[in-house]
Amino acid sequence: MANEPSKYARLQIDGEEGEIELPVYQPTEGTPVIDVGPLAKSGYFTYDPGFVATASCDSDITYIDGDAGILLHRGYPIDQLAEHSNYLELCYLLLNGELPTDKENAEFVSTIKRHTMVHEQIAQFFRGFRRDAHPMAIMCGVVGALSAFYHDSLDIDDPEHRRITAHRLIAKMPTIAAMSYKYSVGQPFMYPRNDLDYAENFLYMMFGTPCEEYKVSPTLARAMDRIFMLHADHEQNASTSTVRLAGSTGANPFACIAAGIAALWGPAHGGANEAVLKMLAEIGDVKNIDRYIKKAKDPDDPFRIMGFGHRVYKNYDPRAKVMQQTCKEVLEELGVEDDPQLKLAQKLEQIALEDDYFVKRRLYPNVDFYSGIIFKAIGIPVDMFTVLFATGRTPGWITQWNEMISGPYKIGRPRQLYGGESQRDYVPITKR
Ligand code: ACO
Repeated sequence: MANEPSKYARLQIDGEEGEIELPVYQPTEGTPVIDVGPLAKSGYFTYDPGFVATASCDSDITYIDGDAGILLHRGYPIDQLAEHSNYLELCYLLLNGELPTDKENAEFVSTIKRHTMVHEQIAQFFRGFRRDAHPMAIMCGVVGALSAFYHDSLDIDDPEHRRITAHRLIAKMPTIAAMSYKYSVGQPFMYPRNDLDYAENFLYMMFGTPCEEYKVSPTLARAMDRIFMLHADHEQNASTSTVRLAGSTGANPFACIAAGIAALWGPAHGGANEAVLKMLAEIGDVKNIDRYIKKAKDPDDPFRIMGFGHRVYKNYDPRAKVMQQTCKEVLEELGVEDDPQLKLAQKLEQIALEDDYFVKRRLYPNVDFYSGIIFKAIGIPVDMFTVLFATGRTPGWITQWNEMISGPYKIGRPRQLYGGESQRDYVPITKR
């Protein structure tokens, strides 16, 4: 980021003398930001619920141009990465800022493989959950609990500890995700296999059993890898901001990522992929689409088209385009091109994209619109969808956390616009 202001904004407040001078910084890409820090000394706060016009940090990792529908990781467009790269290479890029050489890549892949197992005691921890627990509840608990198992890498001021923790998290998340599933269906946990790549290994731990050989389909593994890539990072979204806020207190990284997982769970964020399938099931048939479009447009009806709209993208989400293509490939491989839910989703998308309400508000499909259909086709149960989002998002969370901890940072402590009672005296209960 530019260290010197490119210009100044001057704020004049009615009835007050003088101006407040606010530095304006020019980013390498995107919208300039006004530094409102000097306001604190002038007796005013800024007010921006939902952070609609507020940059919460400076960052060099990911850039989104929501109007143009562009997503760059360390400068590389997501569609190029999705076509030519793979998830672990993207993890390396996010963590280190540059694409790896052959040697660096081989070392990184081997390091991640050596960290995929979880402490044996963690299996005991799983057994404390009810079998019907939501896997996101399990994941929040288990990831938070990792801080009780890996004491040797919890010094957040030591870059080597931070590096090991990043590797551990990226390596262990698929193992924990698959264990959450195995626990819910009462099957034995499957140990990771180092002869498989990242996505193959995940599918093996999900669907393999000790009873027979499980052959991983290369098309499904490639789709899974791409899905992880499409979720890898997305700058300062709600869960990443949660990770940063928790991290700003000096909390350990496992606790911070657990906080991010909790934030991701909501249906307005990572829970949307689960919500899309529930919505498609509720709509049921193409003939009902018009009724649901009407509901979505009715300001008195809380119904929304899930998987549509985005705070930042006011154009087609570039991840949704890749996801749509991946969806077609997966359904073809599985011989279910005629999937009724895919047909329903496509029709819904087409109608919404032509409807004035959606056009005016610039509401387009987001990454979640098609991911659920792919997951369902692969055989992943609906309540695991957000768990897979969390698995894919882990390198983003940990890179963003590391970026913050590596530089000067302050505890995140927003202020408020107070609307409650002014000071008043306590009234004894007999006099109320
Ligand atoms: N269906 C119908 N109308 C919608 C939708 C939708 N999916 N999304 C937004 N709108 C409408 C709103 O009603 C509002 O209309 P109004 O101006 O007449 O009041 C307008 O579009 C702007 O919507 P906001 O809620 O103000 O936009 P915001 O940026 O706060 O919300 C969000 C973005 C939460 C993603 C929203 O679009 C939404 O709820 N979408 C459905 C859930 C979803 O798919 N979430 C996943 C997001 S991507 C991710 O986290 C990976």
